[in-house]
Amino acid sequence: MDEHELNRVIWSAGTWDTVAALVASVGPKLLDEVPVGPGVEVLDVATGSGSSVAIPAVQRGATVVASDLTPQHFVAGRRRAAAAGVELEWVEADAEELPFEDGRFDRVFSTFGHMFAPDQAKAGAELVRVCKPGGTIALATWTPSGYAGQLFGVIGQHLPPGPGGASPVAWGEADHVRAMVPGVDFTFHTDSVDLTAPSVEEFAALYAENFGPLVVAREALGPRWSALHDDLLAYDNEWNAATDGSLRIVAEYLVSVGRKPVAG
Ligand SMILES: C[S@@+](CC[C@H](N)C(=O)[O-])C[C@H]1O[C@@H](n2cnc3c(N)ncnc32)[C@H](O)[C@@H]1O
Repeated sequence: MDEHELNRVIWSAGTWDTVAALVASVGPKLLDEVPVGPGVEVLDVATGSGSSVAIPAVQRGATVVASDLTPQHFVAGRRRAAAAGVELEWVEADAEELPFEDGRFDRVFSTFGHMFAPDQAKAGAELVRVCKPGGTIALATWTPSGYAGQLFGVIGQHLPPGPGGASPVAWGEADHVRAMVPGVDFTFHTDSVDLTAPSVEEFAALYAENFGPLVVAREALGPRWSALHDDLLAYDNEWNAATDGSLRIVAEYLVSVGRKPVAG
């Protein structure tokens, strides 16, 4: 299986929409920073079920295309859009090869999405290509030293390397974003999202049952899964800031906002 096939297997496993609620506040926060509204064409790359950026952007009046490698996530997305009473277009698309013409979108977003494409330079170039000259690219990516960044390290101790050479969390470093998304003048800052659950055990179970990379890890490891599961519980306990038996983990991410130059 090549790295692209493996990536598809990973992200079609589990139920992203069940996990999505934990990070759904990130999109609206990004939309506060990079406003959208009527007449603004938005692309949300690797949208999942659209709860973070795509649906909130339509609610703010924008015209939105929600794209993802894994169209299974669109079932929940369409349900969410119908419940919110909004319409948007759902397009199956690999972030490395977006099926949109050059310069189509005023705003190109991705929250914890395009970072998982194995060929990072290709994914970065596609963000720029589909953005209109003068348009804005806005990304949220886990930082390598934060909770989620280090989590991939814990998983990696039990498995062979994931798809692609560079780690997805390399996208959490400003220099890497600049290198992968050439010709765009970015500003950067870090932010964080509080991951919460009734307990560490419930949090770990939610992830093990629904988060694609862990669902695939559990299947691949068989009896060796329990060792990873123990490490995950220990890791979550280490990061847990709650003192009342529940879980609250502050997960840091990098926000990159850049304007595509008008000429070039
Ligand atoms: C962690 S989820 C984030 C989803 C969404 N952006 C959100 O914040 O809720 C990662 C998403 O990236 C998608 N994905 C992974 N690799 C991709 C690729 N090469 N092209 C497009 N989407 C990809 C997965 O299918 C999944 O929906």
